[in-house]
Amino acid sequence: MTTLVADLPPHVDADRVVDFDIYAPPGAEQDFFAAWLALQRRPGPAMLWTARNGGHWIATRGEVIRTLWADTESLSSAVLSVTPGLGTVMQFIPLQQDPPEHKPFRKAVMRGFASQFIVAIEPQVIDVARALIASLAGRDGCEFVAEFAEILPINIFLTLIGVPTEDRAMLRELGAQLTRPDGSMTVAQLCQAADDYLAPYVESRLAQPGEDMFSRILSVPIDGRPWTLDEARRMCRNLLFGGLDTVVAMVGFIMLHLARHADDQARLRADPALIPAAVDELMRRYASVSVSRNCVRDVAVDGIVLKTGDIVYLPSMLHNLDPDCFDAPDVVRFDRGLNPTRHSTMGQGAHRCVGAGLARMELVVVLREWLARMPPFHVDPAQAVRMKAGNVGACTAIPLRWDAGA
Ligand code: HEM
Repeated sequence: MTTLVADLPPHVDADRVVDFDIYAPPGAEQDFFAAWLALQRRPGPAMLWTARNGGHWIATRGEVIRTLWADTESLSSAVLSVTPGLGTVMQFIPLQQDPPEHKPFRKAVMRGFASQFIVAIEPQVIDVARALIASLAGRDGCEFVAEFAEILPINIFLTLIGVPTEDRAMLRELGAQLTRPDGSMTVAQLCQAADDYLAPYVESRLAQPGEDMFSRILSVPIDGRPWTLDEARRMCRNLLFGGLDTVVAMVGFIMLHLARHADDQARLRADPALIPAAVDELMRRYASVSVSRNCVRDVAVDGIVLKTGDIVYLPSMLHNLDPDCFDAPDVVRFDRGLNPTRHSTMGQGAHRCVGAGLARMELVVVLREWLARMPPFHVDPAQAVRMKAGNVGACTAIPLRWDAGA
């Protein structure tokens, strides 16, 4: 890693400067986690500064990440991302709101994700999983990202909000552009595409609520008054993007783990009752979301003062994989038994993921159905696993082969 000291803000010491592009850390295409851990294992301070993407801090040690993430007094969510312009254009509700404004909107959104609705949709998740698995079972392998991971969670989300599943491929592309932009769309174009798509659904559900998730949320008053059209658009936009990319990424990393660890695969096949605990542990191990915050007042941390206006990047994986926070963190132990709020996969504090229950249920169903119906599998040694870094790190190719003679 070379060091860039040109244009250094006066309060940033040269020993804290790294040349690190969160969209392209060296080696991330082969191993997203190793690329990030190189930053944590670098001797020296925990708070580092990179001039890339407009210049921002990166918190690289678990305790600092956890503390800053929970500090909604000093750090605002309004910025959304280090991607220039993204926060200003998207204006997500509730993700970009700060307390106390955030509270009534969050309450309404949580109502939409209440556990009875998650339980009610489980049979549909099972049906989608079984249909996809049936389409792959007669073959000798598959490319898991395109042929499974990208299909199931998006279909489920679209079903939840009452939107036709034929739109999946187009929406998948929008999700990837948000979290791992390739420059083919401007931020404004991306937002417009999402709004154009959602407009008829948002307007009709505001006017005449149905049984879908958007309707449930929009029926909950905000401090005693109805949602405005602008607020409804911003919330639906948030849920659309929140549901598109994150589960795709997580199910990919989990399947890759099982493909590379025949012993873990065999244990779950032999004892499916272990699957829920295994999912919890795999979700800890393969956290890949990073969030951005802007300082709204000076914050003392790690022997320095972050100045008002600074942007801070908080990578969940560097909390979950820090040996000072978790024992042997890179090892997957199905009996670790951690409370999922202790790690950062789903965030910390006021903005902790509202889709956590839905995501966990989908992942448990996928493992149950896949392991019950598919032969043992491994990564095809003739093809490369590929990953891509970004605000949600993900696999872009997982070539799987079923074991010979299985
Ligand atoms: C494994 C899958 C998922 C992961 C790893 C994940 C991760 C996260 C993280 C880290 C946050 C905190 C963001 C912050 O502090 O700035 C968050 C918030 C959020 N997530 Fe998820 N998420 C997942 C699935 C979902 C799903 C399926 C949905 C919706 C369908 C969703 C909707 C949201 C929303 C709306 C928020 C904002 C909550 C608030 O601001 O109060 N997420 N998620």
